[in-house]
Amino acid sequence: MSFGVNVKGFLKDVKGVDRIVEARESKWANAPTTVNEANRRDPIRELADLLHPAAMRVRLVSVRDASPTAKTFRFVSEDGHIPVFQSGQYVNFRLKIGDSELTRPYSISSAPYEGRGEDGFFEITVRRNRPYLVPDWFFEQVSVGDVLDANLPFGSFYYEPLRDSKHVVALAGGSGIAPFCSLAKEVANGKLEKVELTILYGSVKADDIVLKDELEAVAAACDRVRVVHVLSDDPDWDGEKGFLTADLIKKYTPGPDDRGREATYLFCGPYLMWKAVKEALAELGVERRRFRCDVINNPADVTQLPGYPKGAEEKTYLIRVLRGIQEDVITAVGNEPVAVALERAGIKLDTHCRNGECGFCRSQLLSGDVFVSPVGDGRRLMDKEMGWFHPCSSWPLSDLTIKVPIL
Ligand SMILES: Cc1cc2nc3c(=O)[nH]c(=O)nc-3n(C[C@H](O)[C@H](O)[C@H](O)COP(=O)(O)OP(=O)(O)OC[C@H]3O[C@@H](n4cnc5c(N)ncnc54)[C@H](O)[C@@H]3O)c2cc1C
Ligand code: FES
Repeated sequence: MSFGVNVKGFLKDVKGVDRIVEARESKWANAPTTVNEANRRDPIRELADLLHPAAMRVRLVSVRDASPTAKTFRFVSEDGHIPVFQSGQYVNFRLKIGDSELTRPYSISSAPYEGRGEDGFFEITVRRNRPYLVPDWFFEQVSVGDVLDANLPFGSFYYEPLRDSKHVVALAGGSGIAPFCSLAKEVANGKLEKVELTILYGSVKADDIVLKDELEAVAAACDRVRVVHVLSDDPDWDGEKGFLTADLIKKYTPGPDDRGREATYLFCGPYLMWKAVKEALAELGVERRRFRCDVINNPADVTQLPGYPKGAEEKTYLIRVLRGIQEDVITAVGNEPVAVALERAGIKLDTHCRNGECGFCRSQLLSGDVFVSPVGDGRRLMDKEMGWFHPCSSWPLSDLTIKVPIL
């Protein structure tokens, strides 16, 4: 069997390594000792910065309605280009609201091809079906022309041709339609060869359907995209009614693709819907590798999480926060994650997914107890044993002493 590696024999290979070491030493010895225009460039670093800039400023260029309760915001880069992203990835906004410095992730609802070139842009679709901190701010405080701090792309929830079937069934709820709107546009634009996308989108009433017109336009233009709305409480609706049950999912699942692969299921939606869809797919005998989910948002009410010790949510705790030599003592209410307590106190924390998965907020728990959400507990085994935790997805159960990274 060949692994594409040219093995020349043990001694020759060791000798080869020696030669590389010699070549590197010689480069070091002859490297210029001063920096000037001729030797300042590092093409690899330049390419990496281009693909994943550490920080970006984006300018809002338009806002349009995506439903009676949702709006689509279009941004261009102030720094010249939009980094390459995939349908399903998200943008992390860094915001200052009142005294709080906070971040929020939003899935990109426009297609990757729309981000390329000189006129490239990306869009997010924000839903506000009740008072929310950041959506309220987006709806009421942000105007066309404003420049925000944002970073993209993040997340590993995207279609992967090597791993996934060409027959994709997207299961969505609420604003969870955003990544699939992006994917539908990409498929319709011919960018994902032979992919057939069926979107099953659950809403309560017809008015709750987000991006309805755009989805319809894409489906009308491309016979490889199909959108099925499923409404749980709309007597006037003459399409599918109820929830995304096993029977309904089975009804709309196509057979295997041209490589014989059974359909891949992608899910993006609220916590309770995720629980129901997981059960429905288990009932259908779908293997775990064929079912992938976006970051699942922890429910706003922590007592809904299995294992949470009821009663702790009503208490107030003290958190001693260490950052290098700086020490602060802040108060935290039991029903908010530790990260929110820090943000309310104006203490910066690097958060991206805000639901335990990405590890950007990783901090040390030096004393006290926290409840860790079982939904997206992305801590490494060693971190669990060594007392590291993710404040975005941990709630205080006692007074705490924690050490957070200095930003
Ligand atoms: C990967 C990912 C993609 C997402 N994509 C989308 C999308 O496409 N569209 C969409 O609409 N949503 C999306 N979301 C959800 C989005 O990030 C927000 O969570 C959502 O818009 C609700 O806003 P909010 O968090 O401010 O809500 P809220 O529930 O109002 O606030 C969240 C937390 O902030 C706390 N808080 C309140 N006041 C303050 C204060 N002064 N300082 C600090 N904290 C305070 C609240 O107590 C609460 O704990 C996505 C989430 C994830 C994880
Ligand atoms: S922000 Fe992703 S784990 Fe906390």
